[in-house]
Amino acid sequence: MRVISPRMDAQPLPIVRTVAALRAHVGAWRERGQTVALVPTMGALHEGHLSLVKMGRAQADRVVVSVFVNPTQFGRGEDFEAYPRDEMADADLLRGAQADIMYAPTPEEMYPAGFSTSITVGGVSEGLCGDFRPGHFAGVATVVAKLLTQSVPDVAIFGEKDYQQLMVIRRLVRDLDLAVEVLGAPIVRERDGLARSSRNAYLAAEERAKAAAMYAALKAAGARLLEGASVTDVEAQGRAALTAAGFGAIDYFEVRGEGDLARRGPGPIKGPSRVLAAAFLGRTRLIDNLAVANGG
Ligand code: PAF
Repeated sequence: MRVISPRMDAQPLPIVRTVAALRAHVGAWRERGQTVALVPTMGALHEGHLSLVKMGRAQADRVVVSVFVNPTQFGRGEDFEAYPRDEMADADLLRGAQADIMYAPTPEEMYPAGFSTSITVGGVSEGLCGDFRPGHFAGVATVVAKLLTQSVPDVAIFGEKDYQQLMVIRRLVRDLDLAVEVLGAPIVRERDGLARSSRNAYLAAEERAKAAAMYAALKAAGARLLEGASVTDVEAQGRAALTAAGFGAIDYFEVRGEGDLARRGPGPIKGPSRVLAAAFLGRTRLIDNLAVANGG
């Protein structure tokens, strides 16, 4: 791992809008023998994203951060229009984090007229968010495949908060023989345990006060699993805890296999596992997860 030090050749952060311009930058770095990390984001950047940039800086000579609110991963009735966008604030944060390029393509650049390709990843896309957000992971897989072929990075970094997404992307990269190492970065949390997310901005004050109960429920579930409780009981108690804390609809509170998202239970866990939850506070859908590392 490289030691991170301020760059002597620090330049203003270029904001690049086209694939051709991105490739020109990356090509120039490649000619100098430099390695490249890609951090894909949808903007509305926060500490969680900055931890991904930091990991990128530690892994490669150059860091490209893409900022693109990808329409194809939002379902009908979801928050595509409302999704927070503040490109100048994002650029300031990325400058401070010493990213090398902000790649912010237009929708027309990403999806030119006549665009007709969609990548469906089976297996790990099914269940969990896949059941509640039809088409979501095909949208993610397609845009991530494009971002990877546009920037051709050595490493690409994704947050573990979207754990199922991370599994989908690992599968995509393996199945399509994409020559990139996919790294997952630990979840960054608020002081009370709430996982950092751009969607936290939607929470009203009274919802925000309840939101950390999701992490508390995950931790309680993890502890009970390690004591040998059955998956069926732990999942039921997790859902009850979210309801008691004031959450509305619960999409899932499930225990799955670490790395493959295979179903666990109904009895005690055998092998490393992850507890994953998705539930609504008002109109805001929160997701989070926790590794139960030494299960089995
Ligand atoms: O996690 C996200 O922000 C998005 O799903 C991603 C990976 C940038 C694809 O649009």
